Amino acid sequence: MRILVTGGAGFIGSHLVEALLPHHTVEVLDNLSTGRRENLPSTVPLHRIDLRDAQALRQHFAEHTYEVVYHLAAQVDVRTSVEKPTDDAQVNILGTLHLLEAVRPSHAWVIFTSTGGAIYGEAPNLPIGETYAPLPESPYGIAKLAGELYLRHFHQAHGVPYTVLRLANVYGPRQNPHGEAGVVAIFTHRLLSGQPAYIYGDGEQTRDFVYVGDVVRALVEVLKFPQRTQGQVFNVGTGRQTSVNELWAHLARLIGTSQTPHHLPPKAGELRHNALSYQRLHEATGWKPQVSLEEGLAATVAAFRQRLES
Ligand SMILES: NC(=O)c1ccc[n+]([C@@H]2O[C@H](COP(=O)([O-])OP(=O)(O)OC[C@H]3O[C@@H](n4cnc5c(N)ncnc54)[C@H](O)[C@@H]3O)[C@@H](O)[C@H]2O)c1
Repeated sequence: MRILVTGGAGFIGSHLVEALLPHHTVEVLDNLSTGRRENLPSTVPLHRIDLRDAQALRQHFAEHTYEVVYHLAAQVDVRTSVEKPTDDAQVNILGTLHLLEAVRPSHAWVIFTSTGGAIYGEAPNLPIGETYAPLPESPYGIAKLAGELYLRHFHQAHGVPYTVLRLANVYGPRQNPHGEAGVVAIFTHRLLSGQPAYIYGDGEQTRDFVYVGDVVRALVEVLKFPQRTQGQVFNVGTGRQTSVNELWAHLARLIGTSQTPHHLPPKAGELRHNALSYQRLHEATGWKPQVSLEEGLAATVAAFRQRLES
C-alpha cells in the first residue's frame, strides 16, 4: 500500500516507518520541530510541511495519492499545551482539520494516535476501557478528543475511513529526553549522564508504560483488519500500573547508579493513577503487549547508552 506517516521523523513515527517499509511504499510528512531526519532511513521521502499550512497540505495531497495516512504529527508536550493553549490548538486541532480537509477527496484511511493518558481523567476503576467517558483536563487532551470527534464527523459526513488509537505512556529508544514528555527517557538520560533527576510528589503515582515496539505492532495490526478496526477507538496499553518510584528502581538497577531521586512538589492537576485495558484491540486483532517492562527498559537503556557514547 501507499502510506503517509505524519510525524514520521519523531519517536514513535520513525519506529512505525521502519516496521512498514519492508511491506509498503512509505513517505513521511513532518516539519522537523521535534523530529529528526537522522531518525529515518535516507531512502524514505520526507516532505517538510507544517500542519498549520492548509494550502501546502492541500497541494501535497493533490499531487500525491495514499491509501493510508497514519496521523502522528502533533504538539506533544502537555505543559506547553497548558501554558500556550492556542499554539497547541493550532497544531493539534486546526492542523488535524487541515489534514482531514486535504485527505477528504482521496478517502484515504486515517489512523490517528490519540492519548489514553490525558483523555480520561481520574477513573474509579482501572484498567480503563474505551467506554469510560473522556474528560480531559489539559488542552492537549482536549485537542486530541477534538481530533477524534472531527474524524468521526469526516467519516459520517464525507465517508473518510478512520481508526483511533489511544496510546498509554510510550517509551523506548529515540524518545526525546528533553522537555516534559516521557519520564523513562528523562530518567534514563539523566542517570546515564550523571545528572540529578527529579520525581514530582511522592512517586507513588502510577502510569501504564508500553514499549514503542508493542505500540508499532498495534498500529500495523490495525491495518490488517479494516472491517474490524475502521470507525473504532482502541486503547493501546498494558493494563498494568507501575509507580514512578518502581520505575526509578528498575532504571537505577539497570544503569548501576546509587543516585537517589530528588523530590519536588507534585504537579498541579497531575493524574494519580492510570492504566488502559487493551481488551477491545485484542478482540479485534489479537494484539497483546509482548515486551515486559524489564525487557523494554533494558533495550531503552542500551540504546541511550550507545547514543551517549557515539
Ligand atoms: N509518546 C507518548 O507517550 C504518546 C502517548 C500518547 C499519544 N502519543 C501521540 O503519538 C504521536 C507521536 O508522538 P511522539 O511521542 O513520537 O512525539 P514526537 O515529538 O517524537 O513526534 C511528533 C512529530 O510530529 C512532528 N510535528 C510536530 N508539529 C508538527 C507540525 N505542526 N507539522 C508537521 N509536523 C509536526 C514533529 O517534528 C515530530 O517528528 C503524537 O500524536 C502524540 O500525541 C504519544
